[in-house]
Amino acid sequence: MTTPPSPLTSSRLGALRGIVTVPGDKSISHRALMLSALAIGETRITGLLEGEDVLRTAAAMRALGATVTQDRPGVWRVQGVGIGALTEPADVLDMGNSGTAARLLCGLLASHDLFAIMTGDASLRGRPMRRVTEPLAQCGAQFWARAGGRLPLAIQGARDPLPLDYTLPVASAQVKSAVLLAGLNAPGITRVHEPTPTRDHTERMLTHFGATITCDAGTVLLTGQPELMAAPVVVPADPSSAAFPLVAALIVPGSVVTVTGVGLNPLRIGLLTTLIEMGADLTIENERIEGGERVGDITARHSTLRGVDVPASRAPSMIDEYPILAVAAAFATGTTHMCGLAELRVKESDRLTATLDLLRVNGVAATIEGDDLLVDGGRVPGGGLVQTQMDHRLAMSGIVLGLASERAVTVDDHGFIDTSFPGFVALMRGLGTANA
Ligand code: S3P
Repeated sequence: MTTPPSPLTSSRLGALRGIVTVPGDKSISHRALMLSALAIGETRITGLLEGEDVLRTAAAMRALGATVTQDRPGVWRVQGVGIGALTEPADVLDMGNSGTAARLLCGLLASHDLFAIMTGDASLRGRPMRRVTEPLAQCGAQFWARAGGRLPLAIQGARDPLPLDYTLPVASAQVKSAVLLAGLNAPGITRVHEPTPTRDHTERMLTHFGATITCDAGTVLLTGQPELMAAPVVVPADPSSAAFPLVAALIVPGSVVTVTGVGLNPLRIGLLTTLIEMGADLTIENERIEGGERVGDITARHSTLRGVDVPASRAPSMIDEYPILAVAAAFATGTTHMCGLAELRVKESDRLTATLDLLRVNGVAATIEGDDLLVDGGRVPGGGLVQTQMDHRLAMSGIVLGLASERAVTVDDHGFIDTSFPGFVALMRGLGTANA
């Protein structure tokens, strides 16, 4: 059954003010569920993101034998089965809209001697899976997928998995994590060589659960078949979600917004670096370590922004933030040149083209040159209908654009926002906006 699209219009209605908390980090939430399902004992997870994507992972871990229960909103308990003890799922694993869930799970399943079938929604079924199935096949797993390596796919995990030694051809934390997760049930050392550093939540959480994992000169080394022990997990607020109210405050005159307890992992803060270079008034206070991750309270005040060049080397640390950066760039004076965005073409949508369209339909001059996006900021007429293409981040970016553009902006469907940021519209309304 498909849900009918639910359009939403946002318009300029004055300053945004308030102190808010955004939901838990999506990347960390997926990993918390997967690793606690492999640990011995009961893990308590606090601050788990209860978005659709993560709920799919929770359901999959249940289908694979773990006991996963919600105590109260944001607080979950997982009774793990131990590495190597996942059981064959009785039905197809439906990963919904979530590339992270699907790819990381391929890693887990590859080194368990069981058969599974995985599918997803129309967006996920269009996304490339060969980037994980090719390396994982080398550990002895077998995959049967649709043309182009797309979902649905069937997996027969290896009976005697081999440890992998793999050099990432693209900067992808999902691929790195899939290989590491497969290595958990293989004897010996699994090695992943990363040309560019990507988010390291898998490595941090494996350490937290007692695995031996090191990183040396771009190579991650995991000792296979550890005994993971249950350990409490505190999930920080997602910096990729915090980006939306923060950028909204930067572009709407008179605004001051604080988002509390936001994850500040150094491999996730490329957007903050870029916005500060653009002249954003951003302050970080109350920095602390929670659950092995740096967090802090970020305050954004309305700012006069200027265009900057964003180097390709920064892309992995802000890969999910380009649509909202493009919105900020539309309100900046001069040109913002974002380099090296090839990976955006394989997100929940072709995010590079979809971001260009989002800007153009609202009268902003923007172009794609090769894998670069160039935005000429200044005037934002608005008035457009944004095609969100089942992509939560495009929907939120379109809604934020409408809060500061001359005319209202409509997104064709805001239903997918629930995959990563349930409560987004209510949170923005609470900051003083009134979306139709
Ligand atoms: C993620 C990694 C990134 C990111 C995605 C979450 C993760 O994908 O875009 O939203 O949790 O590992 P890639 O690894 O494909 O860059």
